[in-house]
Amino acid sequence: MLKGKHILLGVTGSIAAYKAAMLCRLLKTAGAEVKVLMTPTAKEFITPLTMATLSKNPVAVEFYNPENGDWHSHISMGEWADCLLIAPATANTLAKMAHGVADNLLLTTYLSARCSTVVAPAMDCDMFAHEATQANIALLKERGVTVIDSPSGELASGLSGKGRMAEPEAILRFLESFPGLNQKKKSNLAGRRFVVTAGATIEAIDPVRYITNHSTGKMGYAVAGELAARGARVTLISGHTVLPTPAGVERTDVASAEEMYDAARKAFADADGAVMCAAVADYTPKEVSPSKIKKDGDTLTIELRRTKDIAASLGREKGDRLLVGFALETDDEIVNAEEKLRRKNFDFIVLNSLRDKGAGFGVDTNKVTIIDAEGGKALPLMSKSDTAAAIADRMESFFER
Ligand code: C5P
Repeated sequence: MLKGKHILLGVTGSIAAYKAAMLCRLLKTAGAEVKVLMTPTAKEFITPLTMATLSKNPVAVEFYNPENGDWHSHISMGEWADCLLIAPATANTLAKMAHGVADNLLLTTYLSARCSTVVAPAMDCDMFAHEATQANIALLKERGVTVIDSPSGELASGLSGKGRMAEPEAILRFLESFPGLNQKKKSNLAGRRFVVTAGATIEAIDPVRYITNHSTGKMGYAVAGELAARGARVTLISGHTVLPTPAGVERTDVASAEEMYDAARKAFADADGAVMCAAVADYTPKEVSPSKIKKDGDTLTIELRRTKDIAASLGREKGDRLLVGFALETDDEIVNAEEKLRRKNFDFIVLNSLRDKGAGFGVDTNKVTIIDAEGGKALPLMSKSDTAAAIADRMESFFER
């Protein structure tokens, strides 16, 4: 995943700068090309010689080389990079990034870069907890910067708490599954808020049994991860699944269709759009037995009632926001999907047919047709992550209008 990727490693003046040497080495070993940018203060903590030797590239600190006047172009560095990774990122640098201060080469590069930006904060626990720092981090997240959370632990000050830089191995693991590495141009989804529903709901019959379906949540999780990688703020409302939460995604777990309805409506209130990937039960037991139902007959009848349609409810109140639906059909696919597009007020609907080989539950591939009011576009069999990228591309065109 990191092989051949261009990582621009920004190092700032924190005691954790020594870890940047190990991080640089790990990135190189993983096959990435690394160029290092340091702030003037970072040089007090680790030498450019160390970083140049490990990255096998000259290190840039000043706007120009004072010996020969060679200009270090922040634009070309931003263009070269697939990702600007600032690790460690001090409270000072985060504050300047949040407020557009451009008084060193790393900051001018950040402001002009079109690639994704990832920061690993490193500071004392009280500085980290300070409202100003937290507000700056929130602002950066809102603008699409990905923040690698600071773990708790021993700090250079002797105190213990949140604020340490994530370990180089953890940063490497994060980058290895970070879809934002493939994202050169800044997406117009960056900073926007989306709700994604995913996975199967669970409808209790009694304390032991329930009704569910075969959805594993793979497609919805891929969409959530892709949107986050493009800098969007994603609330993933997840039914039952065993999948890990994609990087940069905020996840709310729910069980029943009713819980998903409440969570999705709440999150949609201040969202720019929603992608409805979940396989929501259409019916739920009319009454949930408080104790385990005994087997005392040859047949058992459970009366079911209709659940609320989450997508249709969001469709009624969406206004000019974006609403994307999914349709899983076995017969009359296009006709049924078009009917859902209109009835639920989707801007576009992603149709999968269970008849297509490689599409549907549990598999890592999908074959979909994206249908809007103007017609349909059939995509070839692709991985679910490529399908998610195609859906995100289509969402970008919606916001170009
Ligand atoms: O009507 P059908 O279940 O086929 O519609 C599929 C679309 O509607 C999907 O986007 C699904 O997530 C959404 N849906 C929903 N709430 C329901 C049923 C379906 O959000 N109760």
